[in-house]
Amino acid sequence: MCGIVGYVGHQQAMPILISGLKRLEYRGYDSAGIALMTKAGLTVAKEAGKIACLEEVLGDVDCDSTQGIAHTRWATHGEPTKLNAHPHTDADHEIALVHNGIIENYRTLKQFLDRHGFVMQTDTDSEILVHLIRFNYDGDLTAAVRAALSQVEGTYGIAVVSSLHPRTIVAARMGSPLVLGRGDGENFVASDVSAMLEHTNKVVYLTDGEIATVTDTDFEVTTIQNVKIDHPVEEVSWTLDQIEKEGYDHFMLKEIHEQERTLPNAFRGRLNWEEGIPRLNGLNLQYDELRQIKRIIVTACGTSWHASLIGEYMIEELARVSVEVEYASEFRYRSPIIDENTLLLAISQSGETADTLAAMREAKHRGATVVGAVNVVGSSIARESDGGVYIHAGPEIGVASTKAFTHQVMVLALVATLLGRMRHISVQQGQEIISAIYKIPEQVGSILQAEEQIKQIANEYYKANNFLYLGRGINFPTALEGALKLKEISYIHAEGYPAAEMKHGPIALIDKSMPVVVIALQDPVYDKVMSNIAEVRARKGKIIAIATEGDTEIAERVNHVIYIPKTYRLLTPLLSIIPLQLLAYHIAVMRGCHVDQPRNLAKSVTVE
Ligand code: G6P
Repeated sequence: MCGIVGYVGHQQAMPILISGLKRLEYRGYDSAGIALMTKAGLTVAKEAGKIACLEEVLGDVDCDSTQGIAHTRWATHGEPTKLNAHPHTDADHEIALVHNGIIENYRTLKQFLDRHGFVMQTDTDSEILVHLIRFNYDGDLTAAVRAALSQVEGTYGIAVVSSLHPRTIVAARMGSPLVLGRGDGENFVASDVSAMLEHTNKVVYLTDGEIATVTDTDFEVTTIQNVKIDHPVEEVSWTLDQIEKEGYDHFMLKEIHEQERTLPNAFRGRLNWEEGIPRLNGLNLQYDELRQIKRIIVTACGTSWHASLIGEYMIEELARVSVEVEYASEFRYRSPIIDENTLLLAISQSGETADTLAAMREAKHRGATVVGAVNVVGSSIARESDGGVYIHAGPEIGVASTKAFTHQVMVLALVATLLGRMRHISVQQGQEIISAIYKIPEQVGSILQAEEQIKQIANEYYKANNFLYLGRGINFPTALEGALKLKEISYIHAEGYPAAEMKHGPIALIDKSMPVVVIALQDPVYDKVMSNIAEVRARKGKIIAIATEGDTEIAERVNHVIYIPKTYRLLTPLLSIIPLQLLAYHIAVMRGCHVDQPRNLAKSVTVE
């Protein structure tokens, strides 16, 4: 949720740490701070607000320092104030720490520290850690961190520096991502590779329960039990250019437009036309194992949960395998029925969402085969699952997920087709789906051409207080996702509903000021959706329809129509979501909202 950067090397640390923080700002952005190792000892500066606010107070800080740690925060314990911002220091100002995650037993630890005379300065759970390290300190910083962490329950990604140990950063992780970056006479620590990619693409991903002692020239990784670990140094293929805005006003807009270009990455090299079958070798499941799957549980959060719902329709229809979609946060605390023929599929853009990770681990403990569909390579879900399919959307920076959603749906279409071909769908049907998949990117491009029209519609309704989104069948989850996009970034109350359910409640809300977005495609439920449209119209609701190209009739029954091209029915969400993403975006911009960093939200939710 928050972001960590650490540097030790031969360059000035401050600019490296600040530019790293800016790249992580999307992870948390309510306060920020930095601790630099200077000749005079540790110098700490922090400020509430965005990184720019921190920069303003950095004028007096020693710029010659070549070592430091920095943090951008998304508050969990304690308000987002300057005091609560990280780094936290011990009473002697000799140890400084930044922390991502939550210390669950912090009350017990606080009582323990109180008894030993430690005085807390902040309202955070994180501060406990620095005092605990101090308490355990006996001349060896790594040993003190190890001892402190062995008393801790909860999640953490931490970086620690001490004026007693110049040229060293101690980093550790448990449930919160942490990456080491190897440079030439310099080394980096960060919660996300994007913070260090400007300087190095050679990285080592720490796994849970590991501690790294990082110096200018080396790093040593050990477990919390002090067993030495040799991790391979990996090369990251994402470039910084991929992370920039490419001239768009916001990352979100860039990412919406990018879908035309990136979607082929989700199926490139994975489609065998001759046999009408997708190949997903990363699943690590042989055909006979795929045939043995009797039940699939898909678990996810947020937008990924909506993509999962679409996957349910696809898999059940194409493979006739029973699918249940579970909110990860609910699944992990239930007592789910799982046997060896159950496949658990965890869907996550970040691969770090705490609830999804916990749900996946729970399923694994109960004997399920666990596979992931994630975007971030090397993320926790990717590493802990038995196999998986990367969705290959590239870095997604806008907090509101857009391209990751379509990539997830695309990958789910591949999974559904593969499972279907392992059972009863024919080569021809497989080929029909594959042909439709090949056309999707270009079709997405054609919908993006309608942006001006969508902007005009946005202009008409951006002052509305409520929106209703309706869809049926496979486009019901698309309606949910359209509503989520709008509420996330524009703060307009929006609800997604199965169109026919409208008359069981939401119809009471409809009057002349209520915009209703209806996905009304020419599919088997078209006539039924038209009846729902008539019900809205009779109550003077304003209808924005997403319709199939060539359907001229609908134009007479609604206020606005946005057309999408024809495709294979089960793939329609890949197209129908595009205008909804653009609509939400333009409405939010017109309302003056901070589109890429909406209030109270974070890109990667690594706490419960
Ligand atoms: C947060 C993000 C959402 C995302 C959800 C799940 O709430 O703001 O955009 O859908 O987490 O994240 P994941 O990385 O697991 O897909």
